[in-house]
Amino acid sequence: MTNLALITGASSGIGLELARIHAARGGDLVITARRESALVALKAELEAAHGVTVHVVALDLGAAGGAEALIAAVDGLGSPVEVLINNAGFGGHGEFIARDLADDLAMIDLNVRALVILSHHFARQMAGRGRGRILNVSSTASYLPGPMMATYYATKAYVSSFSQALDEELRGKGVTVTALEPGPVATEFMDVAALGGTQLGRTRITAQSVAAFGYAAMLKGKLRAINDPMMRFALNWLAPFAPRRMVLRTVRRFQTKAG
Ligand SMILES: NC(=O)c1ccc[n+]([C@@H]2O[C@H](COP(=O)([O-])OP(=O)(O)OC[C@H]3O[C@@H](n4cnc5c(N)ncnc54)[C@H](OP(=O)(O)O)[C@@H]3O)[C@@H](O)[C@H]2O)c1
Repeated sequence: MTNLALITGASSGIGLELARIHAARGGDLVITARRESALVALKAELEAAHGVTVHVVALDLGAAGGAEALIAAVDGLGSPVEVLINNAGFGGHGEFIARDLADDLAMIDLNVRALVILSHHFARQMAGRGRGRILNVSSTASYLPGPMMATYYATKAYVSSFSQALDEELRGKGVTVTALEPGPVATEFMDVAALGGTQLGRTRITAQSVAAFGYAAMLKGKLRAINDPMMRFALNWLAPFAPRRMVLRTVRRFQTKAG
């Protein structure tokens, strides 16, 4: 197998577009998500268009044993994973105490726990071989606390912090870790997170553009990559110096539904 990439959450949105980019470069793929029919359709598209080999593993990555089952399926192929893209994730809107706790715990299981399990397994293999690329799809949400999406923002803060520390540990072993930190993107994420009616829900940024930006950042071994230059400036040079309560009120306003 050639330049095998494992991409989680490849049935839609940013993950699907990342799979298209990797296949167009001649790389083989393992694509995973819960919706098997979408994965099978993507496999047919990419194999026909690019002559690559695409393996489908349909499972719930957030469920107990999900990440371990994915690892067993990938290891069973007998080919090393050269590129790991931890992209699967979801958000949820609403005041924390009004939300169903089970939904927030499932978010932590997918956005954080599964990402940590996959990173541990495949980064070890990559370090042993002396090369590899990891792209963790975080968010601009990683820079701030997120009233009305408190758990989601905290999961992405974890992903960006974890990714940067891993990069420092692994870079000398030939492995880079990049945190892709998109601003709002027009994908199914908006419906899943129930963000209709908020300012975030009005974005026109496409999954294709964010995937292309993120894939290029991964190849360059960038540490953190925000696709939107205005947000990059605001999050790095304005938000850290603004009074924290003002920042919290501003984030809350962005995420409050028009009444
Ligand atoms: N859209 C945005 O505004 C935005 C902004 C910043 C960061 N992000 C991040 O970008 C990543 C991709 O999101 P997206 O915008 O492309 O949204 P999306 O279109 O909803 O894609 C999410 C992907 O994750 C998969 N997934 C969800 N739950 C899963 C589970 N339990 N097990 C396995 N796979 C699961 C989904 O597939 P199935 O439903 O088939 O399982 C889908 O392929 C996420 O980590 C998200 O947090 C998104």
